[in-house]
Amino acid sequence: MRLKDKVAVITGAGRGIGRAAADLFAQEGASVVLVDVCENLGAEAQRTIEGNGGKAIFIHADVARTEDIQGLFATTMEVYGALHVLYNNAAIFAGKDDGPVTTVTEEVWDRVLGVNLRGLFLCCKYGVPLIIESGGGSVITTSSSAGVLGIPGCDAYTATKGATIALTRSMAVEFGPQGVRVNCIAPAGVDTEMLRESSLDSEDFDEDYFLQRTPFRRYGTPSEIARLALFLASDDSSYLNGAIVRADGGITITPIS
Ligand SMILES: NC(=O)c1ccc[n+]([C@@H]2O[C@H](COP(=O)([O-])OP(=O)(O)OC[C@H]3O[C@@H](n4cnc5c(N)ncnc54)[C@H](O)[C@@H]3O)[C@@H](O)[C@H]2O)c1
Repeated sequence: MRLKDKVAVITGAGRGIGRAAADLFAQEGASVVLVDVCENLGAEAQRTIEGNGGKAIFIHADVARTEDIQGLFATTMEVYGALHVLYNNAAIFAGKDDGPVTTVTEEVWDRVLGVNLRGLFLCCKYGVPLIIESGGGSVITTSSSAGVLGIPGCDAYTATKGATIALTRSMAVEFGPQGVRVNCIAPAGVDTEMLRESSLDSEDFDEDYFLQRTPFRRYGTPSEIARLALFLASDDSSYLNGAIVRADGGITITPIS
């Protein structure tokens, strides 16, 4: 029960990595606030966690909308009275609509930055003061291999994931003195709907090349990332602050052959 008596907000908790983290955090004793823009996924996650004896509420919210995020934290405080963990996991990948800066439209650029970067900003803006008020805790951010490598063809997404790393470091320095640790998970190739939409379903994606470049020769699973998030959320990582943890099977440190 590594999150006993902790209250954790997880954005994008309806499916994929966020869902795996929600299940695990609840098993480890947390009261989990499930945030998702998709009503069905969020409601289903809440039902399953409660069915397994865990504590969870689902809040339907779009992380890019100020009113939604203000409402999310107001409800969190009303229901659970504290906030200890904020796991910023929600993001979108715009598929073929994203691209090099020369071709991506301003509308797509704004949409991707709206969810992936403004969403992170809003959740931290309204969530971090509550963590401080609750006696300190952990903020987890989510970057990507796109934040540490020059991956072509998705410049809006890449810009948000690079900015996430920079913001993780500045927040770690800003809020460390008030007992808030801020660390970042940078995955690559985790088997979720986003991987299917961004890579597996694209005729340009060279799966053999991708797997050959990954020392483990396989994708990661949502539960492998969730277990890292659990470590970062819990007191087990009490001296970790500003860390960018590449959870990618080693793909970003493999030389191109
Ligand atoms: N899967 C991968 O291979 C991979 C690789 C690198 C980084 N990541 C990052 O990991 C995180 C989780 O990815 P995933 O693969 O589980 O994605 P996913 O698309 O499977 O799940 C994302 C969830 O976020 C929700 N969501 C989307 N927009 C939202 C919004 N505006 N407000 C609230 N919720 C919203 C979706 O409804 C969905 O439930 C993302 O930040 C992603 O960029 C994933």
